[in-house]
Amino acid sequence: MQGLALRMIFSALLCSISARASGCPLRCECSEPAHTVKCVSKDLRSVPSGIPGYTRNLFIMGNQISRIGPESFKGLDNITTLSLSNNRISEVESQTFSGLRSLRTLDLSSNQLAVIHPEAFTIPGHTLRELNLSRVLYNHSAVMDLANSLRWSTLGQLRTLDLSGNRLIYLPPHTFSFLGALRRLILANNSLVAIHNGTFFGLSSLEQLDLTLNTLRTIQGEGLAELDSLPVKVRLLLGENPWTCICGLEPFAAWLNVSQGQVEDAGRLVCAFPPDMRNTSLLSLAGAHGEGSGGNRVVLGCLRVGEDADLTLQTSYMFLGVVLGFVGLVFLLVLYLNRRGIKKRIMSMRDACTEVWEGYHYRYEIDSDPRLSQVSTTADI
Ligand SMILES: *[C@@H]1O[C@H](CO)[C@@H](O)[C@H](O)[C@H]1NC(C)=O
Ligand SMILES: *[C@@H]1O[C@H](CO)[C@@H](O)[C@H](O)[C@H]1NC(C)=O
Ligand SMILES: *[C@@H]1O[C@H](CO)[C@@H](O)[C@H](O)[C@H]1NC(C)=O
Ligand SMILES: *[C@@H]1O[C@H](CO)[C@@H](O)[C@H](O)[C@H]1NC(C)=O
Ligand SMILES: *[C@@H]1O[C@H](CO)[C@@H](O)[C@H](O)[C@H]1NC(C)=O
Ligand SMILES: *[C@@H]1O[C@H](CO)[C@@H](O)[C@H](O)[C@H]1NC(C)=O
Ligand SMILES: *[C@@H]1O[C@H](CO)[C@@H](O)[C@H](O)[C@H]1NC(C)=O
Repeated sequence: MQGLALRMIFSALLCSISARASGCPLRCECSEPAHTVKCVSKDLRSVPSGIPGYTRNLFIMGNQISRIGPESFKGLDNITTLSLSNNRISEVESQTFSGLRSLRTLDLSSNQLAVIHPEAFTIPGHTLRELNLSRVLYNHSAVMDLANSLRWSTLGQLRTLDLSGNRLIYLPPHTFSFLGALRRLILANNSLVAIHNGTFFGLSSLEQLDLTLNTLRTIQGEGLAELDSLPVKVRLLLGENPWTCICGLEPFAAWLNVSQGQVEDAGRLVCAFPPDMRNTSLLSLAGAHGEGSGGNRVVLGCLRVGEDADLTLQTSYMFLGVVLGFVGLVFLLVLYLNRRGIKKRIMSMRDACTEVWEGYHYRYEIDSDPRLSQVSTTADI
């Protein structure tokens, strides 16, 4: 029994010594010829120390690491590909990757980031080309941190950014304004409901924008203007959104018709609502706003809405008429009830008028007689 325990301890010691000798951290697999180190699903609580300097590809996946900071990757200048996916990482500190001067690809997908420091992704020399932040946010509250870190991390040479699966409801304007070299932006599988002025500002090299699987019901004028502001070579993906084919969709359908060259999946976009329109191609609704296309107007429910409006207008006019008629009746009734008093008043008014008139007439006669007027003026003096 004792012998067995001793042998186990000895072999464990031997193992660790041999691991040290070849310079590979415990629970990791290292391959010097392939310049690769893998520490996959080993229940690690932090990034292991002792990763060999030759490492170019480092995979630390499926562990329990909650925080990473600058001390996590000291002296690893040769790393070009780093994957930290699926680790429950909740905090990325400032300058975490700034020691990785050759880093080109960073995969942080499937973590639970709640705190991202503004300069979390800064890499001196701007070597980073691909950043995978798919399913990375703990919840939507981290979106402001994310937007700030994308602005402050000097990612001017980034080519691909994957932000899919983050339940994003809204993107702050100018989030991507310092990503001038970005070619591919993946925003699929989020909960975006609208595109606003400034959402895609600064993406002057963009070639692909993936907005599939969001919650867009339509895109209005502001959003269409924003999409039109993207470079002409950009290819858009807009499928699997709950396009809602009611009155108001026509401008989007018409835009889609003229932008078929840019929207890669334009032909596959279909209505999701209302139920009787389900699976109707959006392109078939283009022109629904054109003159003389009465049939289509009915299809999008615009005519019915118009009729409803007319009806309510008519109702309110009728109501107004009834009220006015009633007021008039009351007025007449009051007049009738007071007819004696009114007659008397009119008589007295007439008498007063006559007196005034006669007085005026008398004065006029005096004024128009020069002699009399002279008398009166001298009398005044
Ligand atoms: C990086 O790789 C080069 C050449 O492969 C090597 O000379 C250098 O020592 C490596 N860096 C480190 C920190 O080991
Ligand atoms: C990002 O990571 C996810 C999951 O790990 C993967 O499915 C996706 O293809 C990656 N994105 C890119 C652009 O490689
Ligand atoms: C996100 O999570 C934090 C911490 O649990 C919480 O305080 C916050 O309300 C959450 N935000 C949303 C939008 O759910
Ligand atoms: C979308 O993202 C959620 C997490 O936000 C994930 O559970 C789901 O599998 C993703 N769906 C697809 C089709 O990728
Ligand atoms: C977008 O905002 C800018 C100023 O930030 C303004 O000049 C421009 O007219 C706006 N565009 C639309 C379509 O609202
Ligand atoms: C819509 O089209 C899909 C595939 O084209 C089909 O599977 C589905 O049954 C259709 N739904 C309706 C309501 O027609
Ligand atoms: C669709 O676009 C074409 C040009 O690409 C145009 O000729 C046609 O009139 C448009 N249809 C509608 C209904 O707007």
